[in-house]
Amino acid sequence: MTDGAQGFEPVLAAALPYLQTRHNDVHTRISREFAERLLAEEGGNPQVVIPAILLHDIGWSRVPEDRQLAAFGPNVQDPELTKVHEREGAGMAGEILAGLGWPQALADEIVDIIAGHDTRPGSASLHESIVKDADKLFRLSDRGFPIDCERFAQNPPNYLDWLEDQLDRWFFTETARRLAREEIAARRTGL
Ligand SMILES: [Fe+2]
Ligand SMILES: [Fe+2]
Repeated sequence: MTDGAQGFEPVLAAALPYLQTRHNDVHTRISREFAERLLAEEGGNPQVVIPAILLHDIGWSRVPEDRQLAAFGPNVQDPELTKVHEREGAGMAGEILAGLGWPQALADEIVDIIAGHDTRPGSASLHESIVKDADKLFRLSDRGFPIDCERFAQNPPNYLDWLEDQLDRWFFTETARRLAREEIAARRTGL
């Protein structure tokens, strides 16, 4: 990681206090690694994508922990809570980026991506595509897959089949589809 050189360290430092819930610290770190790989192959501006991925889930800190599991995963019961974490996170991200003096046009794009990262259908830009793809790739990763199996009480082989069925629906970039297939193959050998 080259946080200092790219100036993302202050963004991460501002995000971390809001990521101490829902495994969001590890989720954010792994998703950021996928975002870097997607940027390397798909292009895009890291000054938009990296802050967007670092800040995308900070709004969960405003949703009571005992209600969070109802709001995401394979058995969503309360989709309104998903919108709450997007809306709260977008507002918080705007304040953090303003405090850091992030260029306004870039901050506006980051805030807009965060505001719809889970519930807005489709993708309006390459940057939005990369953020959404990196967010979802976590679920297939060696760290994310067991976390999800445990918290959603899923049988791993069945859950892996379900994840594989989501590939075309979830991913926007060709690179993410390829990485997703690689991750699924790796998880299968680990079952
Ligand atoms: Fe989210
Ligand atoms: Fe996320």
